[in-house]
Amino acid sequence: MDSNDTPPDDRPASDSEEDNLHDASARDRTADISHDVDINDVLDDEEENQGLFDDLLSGEPIFENKEVLRPSYTPRELPHRNEQINRMATILVSALRGDTPSNILIYGKTGTGKTASAKFVSNELESTSQRYDVPCEVEYINCEVTDTQYRVLAQLANKFIEKNRAVITKRVDDLTDRRSAITDGDATLDMSPFDSTAAIDDRIETLKTDREAMDSVPMTGWPTDRVYSSFFEAVDYHERVAVIMLDEIDKLVEKSGDDTLYNLSRMNSELENSRISIMGISNDLKFTDFLDPRVKSSLGEEEIVFPPYDANQLRDILQHRADVAFKHGALTEDVIPLCAAFAAQEHGDARRALDLLRTAGELAERGQADTVEEGHVRQAQDKIELDRVVEVVRTLPTQSKIVLFAIILLEKNGVHNINTGEVFNIYKHLCEEIDADVLTQRRVTDLISELDMLGIVNAVVVSKGRYGRTKEISLSVPVDETEAVLLSDSRLGDIENAQPFVQARFDN
Ligand SMILES: Nc1ncnc2c1ncn2[C@@H]1O[C@H](COP(=O)(O)OP(=O)(O)OP(=O)(O)O)[C@@H](O)[C@H]1O
Ligand SMILES: [Mg+2]
Repeated sequence: MDSNDTPPDDRPASDSEEDNLHDASARDRTADISHDVDINDVLDDEEENQGLFDDLLSGEPIFENKEVLRPSYTPRELPHRNEQINRMATILVSALRGDTPSNILIYGKTGTGKTASAKFVSNELESTSQRYDVPCEVEYINCEVTDTQYRVLAQLANKFIEKNRAVITKRVDDLTDRRSAITDGDATLDMSPFDSTAAIDDRIETLKTDREAMDSVPMTGWPTDRVYSSFFEAVDYHERVAVIMLDEIDKLVEKSGDDTLYNLSRMNSELENSRISIMGISNDLKFTDFLDPRVKSSLGEEEIVFPPYDANQLRDILQHRADVAFKHGALTEDVIPLCAAFAAQEHGDARRALDLLRTAGELAERGQADTVEEGHVRQAQDKIELDRVVEVVRTLPTQSKIVLFAIILLEKNGVHNINTGEVFNIYKHLCEEIDADVLTQRRVTDLISELDMLGIVNAVVVSKGRYGRTKEISLSVPVDETEAVLLSDSRLGDIENAQPFVQARFDN
């Protein structure tokens, strides 16, 4: 959907462009932005290329380090989240004292820094525990990906098994070293817990047997209680406090209920050597309504709320990143405030703000502008909005796509204030044409309401006096782009060629 992506075929390999490749100043500029690969070498080897990248390379780069604006980047500083980070730390510090921290639930709308803050705290916690040599471990699980009890338990089991094996290997190596030092007469058994070298040998053997017995859990196939026991034994193998972070915990509950949380939350009463503490993260404030009351109260011992950012806070966040991401002077004055203002309207979402800034930079770069301007931000806002629409349309169920296609056909044929009956008629024809099941008009009306809720169409109920009430439907998204997305779905088959009959219907 990106009009700026020029396909290779449209781009002629003119002589002047070829010359450019060998132009010394072009080389200097390309050398500027090539960090790892020597672009000159690559270009010299490609005498025959069509110049696809030349224009892009010849513009002064806007970015210094674009990675910093990507969602995968974990910032080292999180402005305006001190309060939340400190609260997490105050609760989790017990783990460093060998006590069990309270379970924590973190709430906040999307893009409010929950994941970033949790990862920051978990890094700090683990590195501090290593420094003080206290056995405290953090396991992070994204429940959007790992969304069943089996997978969560298997992933946890395997992580602890891996860590146990490493601990055992280290211990075996230490003991083996000590054993040979004693044999060589360089050390004695004094001050050691062993009263003979045979005892050391025994210990080494036991450890090796333990290690052999630690089987990884396969990602499918075992009964769940066996997976649970594996996890239980692995975590309890030695003394430790394990903090388990379940990000997007609502997705887990939605997909597989609260069994996992129930099992995890009552484990501490059975563990002998270790303790676990759960930190759940969610952007759905209502998900605890679906929890068993016992789970709910155990999980929510402490609750931390991440409020949305306001425009000023978003400005700070963007400024921090922009300093690293962009070349000096590449941003005009209005860019950051405008990105912040747009994102503040979208419930204070820092992810959206960063997306906007990155996209605006990319658009400026593609347009070969020297600086990022306010116009690029507005263009970026439109592009992101369109990308969202495309994604929503692309993932609609087939029946909704057919209904939407019917509405598009009507609009394209100049029908205004479309009513449900008209949509249904066209829909029915389309279904017959492509061999799809035909739903009832009642169901189609429901599908139209769903499209309305998704913001794809606008359906208003109007009163027709004594003829009752009807819906007037219009498209709220760009016709051509939406149509293109629908036509790219192979399940809709030949729907494009089903068009003429609409023409016939409205021409006469
Ligand atoms: N205070 C902040 N300082 C710097 N960057 C931030 C801050 N808050 C959020 N971000 C950045 O914004 C983006 C979104 O943040 P994050 O992923 O933590 O949101 P989230 O609250 O987990 O959202 P979701 O509920 O959608 O998972 C990330 O790129 C993150 O680095
Ligand atoms: Mg998150």
